[in-house]
Amino acid sequence: MFRIHQPLRALLAVPFLLGAARAQGTLAEAAAKAGLNIGMATSSRQLTGTYGNTAKAQYNMFVCENDMKFQSTEPSRGRFSYGGGDGVYNFGQANGQRLRGHNFIWHAQSGWAANVNGSRDEMLGIMKTHIDSVGGHFKGKVVEWDVLNEITDDGNGNGLRKSFWQKAIGDDYPDSAFFYSRRADPYAKLYYNDYGGDGVNSKSTAMLNLAKKWIQNKVPIDGIGLQCHLSSPVNKQSISDNIKRFGEIGLRISLTEIDIKNGTTQDWTNLMGACLENFNCTSFLTWGIYDGASWLGQGCNCLLFTESWQPKAAVQALIDLMNNADPAVVAKRKEFAKEPIIPTLVYPRRAPVRDRAGGLLPAAAVPLFPAGIGAVDALGRNRSVAPHSPWAAGLSIAPR
Ligand code: XIL
Repeated sequence: MFRIHQPLRALLAVPFLLGAARAQGTLAEAAAKAGLNIGMATSSRQLTGTYGNTAKAQYNMFVCENDMKFQSTEPSRGRFSYGGGDGVYNFGQANGQRLRGHNFIWHAQSGWAANVNGSRDEMLGIMKTHIDSVGGHFKGKVVEWDVLNEITDDGNGNGLRKSFWQKAIGDDYPDSAFFYSRRADPYAKLYYNDYGGDGVNSKSTAMLNLAKKWIQNKVPIDGIGLQCHLSSPVNKQSISDNIKRFGEIGLRISLTEIDIKNGTTQDWTNLMGACLENFNCTSFLTWGIYDGASWLGQGCNCLLFTESWQPKAAVQALIDLMNNADPAVVAKRKEFAKEPIIPTLVYPRRAPVRDRAGGLLPAAAVPLFPAGIGAVDALGRNRSVAPHSPWAAGLSIAPR
């Protein structure tokens, strides 16, 4: 019988033991070099067996596909449930992987909250309690939070979607959501995440204008999530130009929910290339890991691993692209995305804080930042308080 000598046999066995994609390094190793978070959506239940091993080896970030949404984290009013998110966080912790939070405020998957039909004050209260509780629970554990999901109304002149939040609270509900979030978790970067605005188009222009308005009003926003539910072919130039224009106003971009229907290797490298050439593109996450479990159904040919767990050619192509990223852009990205060391935030309250009607706010309502007293704008926000320091910038308007 023909015998393969020992070292050769060991070499041949490597792809079977490790999975072919590991032969030339992993996505996570290459992403670290490029200063990128590379992630995937999952539930904690899925993170076992081949799925778990691949997730562990290839990624440095996770996002819960459903488990940190409103209906999952607050299944009934005032009752909170964190098991799903905790499971994904703990899995990642063991391996130095980070967690992205998805999401606080959305028109969908919000359970009971969508049926309250409350007044502005009641709905603001629901929003605040939810963000305080969920954001507080995951404080320091989530590096990026989708504070707002899918809030523009593409069918209606690019204004805000007429969600139950918008109808009850009004057009300033995003402002409050961001402020509540900054207070609940000052460590997390705060995002507005949406679909269909991946390249330069009227929707992404509407998103840009919203972001500009927030920045002007000192609303604490750090980034935009471009969901990237795409179909082949992927237009690299348009997506790159879009990422760039958000960078010009100081915002991070995360590509948050990538799937490319019938995506070719070229489509995947187009998308990654658009990210890599912009210093402000900091995270690249697919919405699932393999074609066997995409929300688009089997046969979508839309993720990086096949239904039988074969890495597609795109995996190696992405690794190569990240390994060869322009060092100047990588250095700029690493500098830009550097997380500040945040001291323990204990502020003495110098003056009692009052709401618009003059009522005294309980201490718990303003746990971290003094709101001060001064001129109040039409929306009840206090414009008189100066930002305290660079890491707490944007806190000079206190929403009611
Ligand atoms: C989807 C999940 O993938 C499904 O499992 C669920 O049934 C519905 O929601 N935009 C988003 C995601 O922001 O939260 C959605 O996720 C997909 C579209």
